[in-house]
Amino acid sequence: MRKKIIAGNWKMNKTPKEALELVKLLKDKVNTDKSDVVFCVPFVELIPVLEELKGTNIAVGAQNMYFENSGAYTGEISADMLTEIGVKYVIIGHSERRQYFNETDKTVNKKVIKAIEKSLIPIVCVGETLEQREKGITVDFVRIQIKSAFQNVTSEQAENVIIAYEPIWAIGTGVTATSEQAEEVCSAIRKVISEIYDQNTADKIRIQYGGSVNGSNAKELFGMADIDGGLVGGASLKEDFSNIVNY
Ligand code: 13P
Repeated sequence: MRKKIIAGNWKMNKTPKEALELVKLLKDKVNTDKSDVVFCVPFVELIPVLEELKGTNIAVGAQNMYFENSGAYTGEISADMLTEIGVKYVIIGHSERRQYFNETDKTVNKKVIKAIEKSLIPIVCVGETLEQREKGITVDFVRIQIKSAFQNVTSEQAENVIIAYEPIWAIGTGVTATSEQAEEVCSAIRKVISEIYDQNTADKIRIQYGGSVNGSNAKELFGMADIDGGLVGGASLKEDFSNIVNY
C-alpha cells in the first residue's frame, strides 16, 4: 500500500516573514499520519521554515537545484547545500522551469541523478500542454518525459522517486483535470515505469497529480487507483491546504 504524499509548491510566493505565518497556521492543522506532507518553499525560507517545523513530521523541499556539486555557477544551489540544512525533497523539472528557464529533459535527468546520489528525493514533474492534449498525444509525450528523466536510474533508486503529473493547462487556471483524465495519465505513467523496470517498481513508485487541486476536489482525485497524492500550487498558500492534506 503506497502512502499518499501531498506537497505544497509555494513557487515564488511569500516573504520569510509571511512564510513563518503560514507555517504556524498550517503545522498543527495537517494530519501527517495518513500522508507524507512536504512544504516546498523558496530557497531563502528553507532554514526558518525547517526551524519552525522541528518536532513535526512535515518535511521541507526545495523547488530546484543544480546538477553540479559546486563551483562557478552563479545563482545556483547545490544538493549538498540543501541536505546539510535538512531539506529532504526537491522539485525537478516543473513546467514553469521548463517554460521560463530552459529546463530540458536532459537537465531534468542530470538533476534527478544528482539528487538521488545526494540522498534527496526528487519530485519529477511531467505533463502536456493543452495543444498536445487536443492533438491526442498526451500519453506519448509524457512517456518521453518519463523515459528521459529515469535514464541511468536503477530500479532501487527509482522506487523512491516521486513523479508529479501536472497537465500544464490545469496549472493555476482553476481548470482541474477530471479524476478520470488524471487517472488515465497516472496509470499510463505507472505502466511506463513497469516497462522501464518491472511491476514491483511500478507498484512502489508514488505518482502525484497537480493542477488546481483544492480542498473540494482532493478527495475524488486522491481516491483514484494510481493517484498517490498531489503537488499543490495556489491552494498550498492558504489554510485550504489543510483540507487537501486531511481530505
Ligand atoms: P496550482 O495548484 O496553482 O494549479 O499549481 C499546480 C502546480 O504547478 C504545483 O506544482
